[in-house]
Amino acid sequence: MPTPETSNEDPYMLGRNYYASARLAMLHLLIHAQFGYLLHPSIKLPSAEKTEEQLRIADVGTGTGIWIGELTRERPQAQIDGFDISDEQYPPEKWYGPNVSMSQLDIFKPLPEVLKGKYDVVHLRFFMTVASDDNVQVVVNNLKGMLKPGGYLQWVERDWMSKFPEKAERSDDAHTQITCYHRTFFPKTRWINSLPVLFQQCGLEVLDHVTQTPLPIYRKPWNEDCLIGWAAIGDMIESQEEKNWYKELLAEAAENAKKGWYVDWELVICIAKNAV
Ligand SMILES: C[S@@+](CC[C@H](N)C(=O)[O-])C[C@H]1O[C@@H](n2cnc3c(N)ncnc32)[C@H](O)[C@@H]1O
Repeated sequence: MPTPETSNEDPYMLGRNYYASARLAMLHLLIHAQFGYLLHPSIKLPSAEKTEEQLRIADVGTGTGIWIGELTRERPQAQIDGFDISDEQYPPEKWYGPNVSMSQLDIFKPLPEVLKGKYDVVHLRFFMTVASDDNVQVVVNNLKGMLKPGGYLQWVERDWMSKFPEKAERSDDAHTQITCYHRTFFPKTRWINSLPVLFQQCGLEVLDHVTQTPLPIYRKPWNEDCLIGWAAIGDMIESQEEKNWYKELLAEAAENAKKGWYVDWELVICIAKNAV
């Protein structure tokens, strides 16, 4: 089993070095290219020119902060606050301009009073390696707690496991074996398919639930992003024997990608509105 690179408080297993940051930047660009928006069209906000009451937008688990950077170009007047349990991946906040703040927050912990009911929009993307079936409701409740009355929640996810069997055979293809191996230590993520239910359970009104696989024109970079992520996981495996086995499978997966295998994970976007 891989060793988390940080403390028990922060068991993030995909690493935070420059490969990891570049991988996240590429994912951001791929998602944006496919869907064409940073904020889903059902999120109705006053026009960017209206400054009477400054919009407040939060990005939780912001990582590299790339979503925030792009949003400042669309919403230069808005106050945008990035939060992450770690400050290792985002750049200095002054690079974003005067209306952005970046700070550390553990979204599994009780929400600080100052964040309660403060945001018009709360965004979270890619918690599939962070939240499990057992604790995801804590995250949903905290995100809801950050919303103003009538505020919007946008959650973007990658369902990277549900198309694969629970257990793999040695005769299965490389990506099936790798995914089933990941199941042994990554969080259980049946919740990804239940986001609308989780939102409704805490009183949010679901506005849309979009699921799409990567477009064929983007399959190649999605494959490459996936293989880079798997290589990082492989590097963290402690047992030399397991590591060798995993790296052989990874090489096979890379060969399969050349022959036409592609990532067909569902990309999931769920949008909800807080009661007024
Ligand atoms: C896969 S990355 C996604 C980053 C970013 N949202 C994006 O789409 O590029 C997951 C992020 O969640 C952060 N994270 C992990 N545990 C967290 C926690 N308990 N509270 C807040 N952020 C957390 C990680 O540090 C990491 O930056």
